[in-house]
Amino acid sequence: MKTRTRIPIAKPLITDEEKRRVLEVLESGRLVAGAQVRAFEEAFAGYLGVKFAAATSSGTTALQVALEALEIKPGDAIVTTPFTFVATSNAILHAGARPVFVDVDDRTFNLDPNQVEDAVRRERARAILCVHLYGLPADLGAFSDIAARHGVLLVEDCAQAHGAAIGGRKAGTIGHIGIFSFYPTKNMTTGEGGMVVTAREDVAHRAAVLVNVGQNGSEEYVYERIGYNYRLTEMAAAMGLAQLERLEQRNASRRRNAEQMTAAFAGLPWLLPPVEPAGYHHVYNQYTVRVPADREAFIRHLAARGVGSRVYYPQLIPHSPAYRNLGYGGSFPVAEQLTKQVLSLPVHPALSNEDVAWIIESVRQFPHRDRA
Ligand SMILES: Cc1ncc(COP(=O)(O)O)c(C=O)c1O
Repeated sequence: MKTRTRIPIAKPLITDEEKRRVLEVLESGRLVAGAQVRAFEEAFAGYLGVKFAAATSSGTTALQVALEALEIKPGDAIVTTPFTFVATSNAILHAGARPVFVDVDDRTFNLDPNQVEDAVRRERARAILCVHLYGLPADLGAFSDIAARHGVLLVEDCAQAHGAAIGGRKAGTIGHIGIFSFYPTKNMTTGEGGMVVTAREDVAHRAAVLVNVGQNGSEEYVYERIGYNYRLTEMAAAMGLAQLERLEQRNASRRRNAEQMTAAFAGLPWLLPPVEPAGYHHVYNQYTVRVPADREAFIRHLAARGVGSRVYYPQLIPHSPAYRNLGYGGSFPVAEQLTKQVLSLPVHPALSNEDVAWIIESVRQFPHRDRA
């Protein structure tokens, strides 16, 4: 068997120019709350085409700030997905609100609009918190309609979806508020970092105040709210600015890699490649296939060929011990099946053409028992 150096599931790309820009900040002596953070917020808002952006220390803190800025109250029901990273629903609990989990769509793995609407009605929900999983936008058209029909808020968790869009409208700009993460596995990174975006000035103001220990920005040591220190550093913002400049190009590279894999996997009867519905712009934070049987053997086969892979996510959030202890649980047949069948393969822009070819060859060589 041929061997190769390991192909990791994710790899942040940091250019020399980015290193130089971070070094410049370090040498400037201004490490927090300066021109870089302001410029990054403006550039990010400009890129999305949204009015306001507030930088935060992570996607997790961005979610917490977003819900508080929307004035989500203790006891409010928020409809969300069980098939996501834990930060999504933790933010609901941290706000004192109540996550209402509903099942996902079998093809897109994102929230199923029909079940969302039933839950909104049944639970008299205050908000919908949707996740654009793996970089594929959730059905924002349906969720905006549901939100308008029932007078509820729409929150977009775009932690995995920088630049994703439907009909040219970018994820994060359609709901009442959107959040992003800049963790190293994301489509752009600042190490740790996040962003809250919104078109509403009052919400944007509250978010900025909450991030900055409750100060309103113009007067130091005058506290408008009980806030947090969730600020992004100047070094991280300098990195973010540089990463944002390359985002489109790197997303295009992710899409090219994904397109090649999907074309090559089309004839495999034992594997389902990811879908991209018409009009949707998937940014492939993850390239996630579905393997209805033999997933563990498939993972071992790939590992033996140096191809990294990962299961996002092996357990539903309401079934985790922390949530079970709070009385959560429930049955989510589609999402439960996904936890047993999904597997993410490397798709990131650091892959060479040879890497992509090797991943394809390795997948196709798997001696699956349902092989045609
Ligand atoms: C869907 C989702 N929401 C929220 C987060 C939290 O972001 P962070 O890791 O920056 O706190 C992540 C990422 O890790 C995520 O994937």
